[in-house]
Amino acid sequence: MKHGGKSAQKIAIACALLAFSSGALAQKDPGVRGGIQNSGGGLQQQGIPIPHPPLISPNPNTGATVNDNERASFEEGILRAGQLESTCDDCADVTDGSPVTGAGELDPMFPQFHTNSNGLGARHNADQCFVCHAQPSLGGSGGFIVPNPGGSKPLPAENPQFRLVPHRYGRQNIVPSFEHQFGPIREVRFKRKSDGTPDGGVHQLWTVRGSTNDTTISNCALTQPDFAAEEKAGNLAFRTPLQMLGLGLIESIQDREILAQHDATAALRGPVGITGHPNRSGNDGTITRFGWKAQNKSITIFAGEAYNVEMGITNEAFPTATEEDPDCQGPNKPEPNDVVRTDATNVKNQDFDNPLHLMPDWQQFQILMRFTDGPAPDPNPSERAKKGKGLFAETGCALCHTPQMQTAPVMNSPVLQNRPVNLFSDMFVHHMGSRLADDISQGQAGGDEFRSTPLWGVGQRIFFLHDGRTSDLLQAIQNHFSPATPKYPASEANGVVHKFNQLSPVEKQAILDFLRSL
Ligand code: HEC
Ligand code: HEC
Repeated sequence: MKHGGKSAQKIAIACALLAFSSGALAQKDPGVRGGIQNSGGGLQQQGIPIPHPPLISPNPNTGATVNDNERASFEEGILRAGQLESTCDDCADVTDGSPVTGAGELDPMFPQFHTNSNGLGARHNADQCFVCHAQPSLGGSGGFIVPNPGGSKPLPAENPQFRLVPHRYGRQNIVPSFEHQFGPIREVRFKRKSDGTPDGGVHQLWTVRGSTNDTTISNCALTQPDFAAEEKAGNLAFRTPLQMLGLGLIESIQDREILAQHDATAALRGPVGITGHPNRSGNDGTITRFGWKAQNKSITIFAGEAYNVEMGITNEAFPTATEEDPDCQGPNKPEPNDVVRTDATNVKNQDFDNPLHLMPDWQQFQILMRFTDGPAPDPNPSERAKKGKGLFAETGCALCHTPQMQTAPVMNSPVLQNRPVNLFSDMFVHHMGSRLADDISQGQAGGDEFRSTPLWGVGQRIFFLHDGRTSDLLQAIQNHFSPATPKYPASEANGVVHKFNQLSPVEKQAILDFLRSL
């Protein structure tokens, strides 16, 4: 463009316009949507409501709500999941299983402060479910937590794997370089064992070595794996926490509904190259659906498994420990640790003549998850976000991120049955190509296959994709694209990403705004 002969003023205006239009051209992730969803009421800290998992809303089709027993179990589940696990019963701050104030109310402290039980594994990733599931409310996905809970001057919240968990009670853990202060919570799997054969399992970050609150394990000399060497060898695969919200609803969707929804889009998927397949249980052949690769059958299995994998706490579903070094478990730690309480005395558990205390923690976790509501979308989405909803479908995003499915016509609990679930996932796994591949196979999901992440709640998540590689939605979308390589086929999402890239800047922005409204 020639500016010769134009006045300085005109140039200034032109520059201003240019700056304005390029600002309008660059689509931008509007960032984490504020506000917390807290439909349960009751839990407060010094008059301020504690964010906690939202109780499932009434069934929109029938008006059915949770009954009194379901609600009581849900609240008990919040308390159990809020307890901090440690290595001994009597070294804990609080041994009571259900903190209540003298007035019989729920404890006004954030549940994080209270320790419970002798179950914490010699190796673990954390000592509380909510350490990794706290964004935007307890039960959410991975977020930040105050590193000095209970301190008189609270520090700004950060990745709990940076200072809080590795050094709790003086434990001498070395923080691997991949855990950043304000980065995603990362847990690690190893791609291969030292002999070169496939591994794929989780390798826990921390050990209980050096615990100052338990003299019975002072001989524990366990060391952490050499994460630096494994990282150098390219042997690490990261996973970030998914959310615990709305999982009872997802579990209540029948396989036939998942398959029918998929069949319904066959004519649209064909031309853009989207196929996908369900991950299935090797035993009963039904569709498995939880985890980044849809590798787990049920929230109950996930609860038992997470208790053992994340915290090293053995239970009826996962009865043997991931680390059995006798120097690192207290002398009175029973195996499995967390079981249905049928003992004749109250020594091992508190007041289990109370029916709410019969159930082991891991069972309470699955009840908590079953009756936790799905993430609530923005009640007042902008006009552009509304437009983005249509564009999300037209561009083909909805071919994998299915906006809605229905739960089974008859369920044990009427609150769960015959209702819509706005999950934005087809529950299938798809080839996503080499860029996202983590070289780990789980069930029938191969090294580059992942479940279409349920996008409900994505508006309030901080980190995206299985390894938390970005906190920018635009980057998350661009990472869906991968050409074929010798190892992996092209990403099934390539056609849709291509269409997305051809949208106008305003249209792309509308899709980002829509995502942040979820
Ligand atoms: C150290 C962090 C950490 C802790 C502690 C933790 N989780 Fe998770 N959670 C994760 C990660 C990482 C994933 C994704 C796992 C995968 O697919 O490989 C996940 C996924 C899940 C899922 C699957 C959700 C979905 O959409 O499919 C459930 C259910 C779950 N966790 C429940 C729990 C429960 C219950 C506890 C407490 C017993 C717990 N988690 C403790 C990190 C954690
Ligand atoms: C071929 C199926 C497919 C299509 C088409 C697709 N996605 Fe995805 N999407 C996935 C899978 C699989 C993942 C998980 C990938 C991973 O974590 O490695 C994902 C993850 C995401 C995430 C990250 C969610 C999170 O919490 O980490 C966002 C955001 C997203 N998709 C948005 C979109 C949008 C917008 C479009 C359309 C432009 C789109 N997707 C098209 C399959 C698809």
